[in-house]
Order: sequence, then C-alpha cells, then structure tokens
Amino acid sequence: MFESVPQAKADPILGLTEAYNADPRANKINLGVGVYKDEAGTTPILASVKQAEALLLDTEKTKSYLGIQGVPEYGAHVQKLLFGADSAIIADNRARTAQAPGGTGALRIAADFAVRNLGRKTIWVSNPTWANHAAVFGAAGLTVEQYAYYNPATSDLDFDAMVESLKAAKAGDLVLLHGCCHNPTGIDPTAEQWQVLAEMSAAAGWLPLFDFAYQGFATGIEEDAQGLRTFLANHGELLIASSFSKNFGLYNERTGAFTLVAPSAAVADTAFSQVKVNIRAMYSNPPAHGAKVVSTILGNDDLYAQWVAEVTEMRVRIHQMRDLFVETLADKGVDGDFSFIQRQNGMFSFSGLNPAQVGKLKDDHGIYIVGSGRISVAGMTKANMDALCTGVADVLK
Ligand code: LMR
Repeated sequence: MFESVPQAKADPILGLTEAYNADPRANKINLGVGVYKDEAGTTPILASVKQAEALLLDTEKTKSYLGIQGVPEYGAHVQKLLFGADSAIIADNRARTAQAPGGTGALRIAADFAVRNLGRKTIWVSNPTWANHAAVFGAAGLTVEQYAYYNPATSDLDFDAMVESLKAAKAGDLVLLHGCCHNPTGIDPTAEQWQVLAEMSAAAGWLPLFDFAYQGFATGIEEDAQGLRTFLANHGELLIASSFSKNFGLYNERTGAFTLVAPSAAVADTAFSQVKVNIRAMYSNPPAHGAKVVSTILGNDDLYAQWVAEVTEMRVRIHQMRDLFVETLADKGVDGDFSFIQRQNGMFSFSGLNPAQVGKLKDDHGIYIVGSGRISVAGMTKANMDALCTGVADVLK
C-alpha cells in the first residue's frame, strides 16, 4: 500500500537544515532557518530562561496533565505582553488564551476555529509570506488568497498595491497580518499605514489574524505591539497566534499561544469552549515546560527585566550584522544600493537574490539561504561575514 505514496518535496526552510547538516564542507554557513546565533555562532539558552528553569526544578511538584488551555497563569501573562498591562481588554475580560505548540500550532488552532466554528472559507496572506503559512491554512481547509505586499523595484512595502488588492477581501474573510518583523521581507507598515489598514478592516468586516512571532525584535516589546493594538482599537473580534521561539529562545520547547478577543466576556467564554473542543481532538493538552518558563519570567520583576535586556541584546546584535553586511558587500565591490537591508526589521533580510543565485550560493560556497532569497541575518557573525559576502559578490557577478 505504501509504495503508492509519492516522494514529498523537502520543506523550503527546515529541509534546508537537513541538507546543511548532510553537507560535509567544513566552511558551510546556514542562514536558512530563523534561529538566533550569538557572536560565537551558537544559539544560547537565555540566562533568564536558565534561572526560570532552575526555579522550576526546585519548585515543581507534579507532572500531572495540564488543562486543555495549558498552564493556568500563562494566558494572563501572554495577554499583558500583547495588549499592555493597562489594557481595557484585560480589564473587561474579553480575551481568552490557549497555550499552543509553537506559533505554528497557534496558527492551526486559529484556522480550525475559523473553519469549524465560524464557517470561514478564505484567508488572505501577503505576497510573499512565511513559507509554511499556506500549508497550515490549507491543511485546516482554508482557501489561501494573496494580497500585494512587496515591491522588488524599491525593496519596500507597496502600500498602495496592498490596499488595492485587499479591497477584494470580503466580510468575514480572514486576513493574516504579521505583527512585526514581516517574514520574509523584514518590512513592516508604518503607524499611519497600520491605522489605514485597521480602519479598512473594520469597515469591510475582515477577521484579522495576527501572526506575532518576533515581539521585541523590531524596536521593543511594547513598540512592536503597535500594529496589533491599532487593530484592537478598531475591532471587537480578532485572533492572535504568538510564538516565543525567538524572543525567549525556546525553539524546541514549542511554546506559543492562541488568543481570541471577543466583544464581551460571555462571548469569549462560549467561543473559547469550542476552541478547547478542537484542541482536545488535535493534541489533547499541551506540554508544560516552555510555558512554565515563560510564565515564571513574565511573573517575576527581576527575571522580566533580565529578559527584556536579553531581547535588546539580540536585537542590537542583528542590527549590527545588518550594518556590517552592507559595509562588507561594499568593500567587496558589489554594485548597488543595499541600504534597504538596514531598514528591514527582525531576523531576516530579503536580499533580492533569485533562485539560480541562491542555488549557486549553496553549490559553490556552502551558504544556505531560503529559495525566496531570504537570508537569516540572525545567523550572521563577524566570523562568517567575509565568506558570506565573498559568496554573494560571486553570485551577483
Ligand atoms: C523561519 O521562518 O525560519 C522560522 O519560523 C522557523 C520555521 O519553522 O520555519
């Protein structure tokens, strides 16, 4: 029976790591997957996480099941991060949060809720978007439509085209927005543009779904929630998929959250009861460790301050790598204005390299980047910069 199953294509991002691991070249560089590296080229466990883990080791008394929605205090901490501690949504008790297996799990929970409980059929995603979005939403039964986003001629957001194409989104359609640090382009709407989008969304009756995986990597923890909070000021109903893979460095702990915001506490309760039914059928209840770490940090003033400092350190290092990348390309005599790389937010740079150039970079130089031309700046170091820019200069010749 199984012989009839055709070979699947490798995953465009995680498949690259598999190919990288199998590559015997000593000087290979993996700038595919979005994983933060420090200056030594390692992906560290944050000191705040280590301390939270030490506390948990001392105080944890049981490994009994969590409830379907996860660690009890986790939702309140996540909501403070998303909405701000003084938010009226929190005061009015209008949001419900379920711990999720990573941001991807949270996206799937959102999509299942939209399809099964709201009867939604369509989601609009930016062109381009994260390589896994279409697969997650398609698996839940949504039809995926694209709205314009990136203008390769200007290496910038094509806001007019975005607005124009989103006029086709109908009332009730889901519209996926990247909370900050748009993946893969690194280009986010301005405050004014968020306002235009939020008003347009409210007038048209979209159901906004925020994919919020990089809070703290653009400007700061609070600042990066601006787009989401602008939408919340205009919408009674909204869905959010949070990931703590990057900003807590909890990649393999699969620590995310699904949050729904409803017009009232009563509606939130009823809607969330269906979310719990969907989760129970999918994976029953989540694993505890990552969410306990996040809750411990967010619930402790000292650990919180330390964590904010660590996120800042990661953000600053990535910005330094952007500067060094642009400078080193210029030193190598590469023609062209690459200053757009310094204006992009988050872990990625959308380099403009085409698939043939990306292939040559891998084959001739052992440098792995995503086929779309997305480079993980978070994986650049002073040590690998020269080899990286030599490779890029060569494929651009
Ligand atoms: C990425 O975009 O590289 C990350 O979100 C990791 C992943 O799962 O693709």
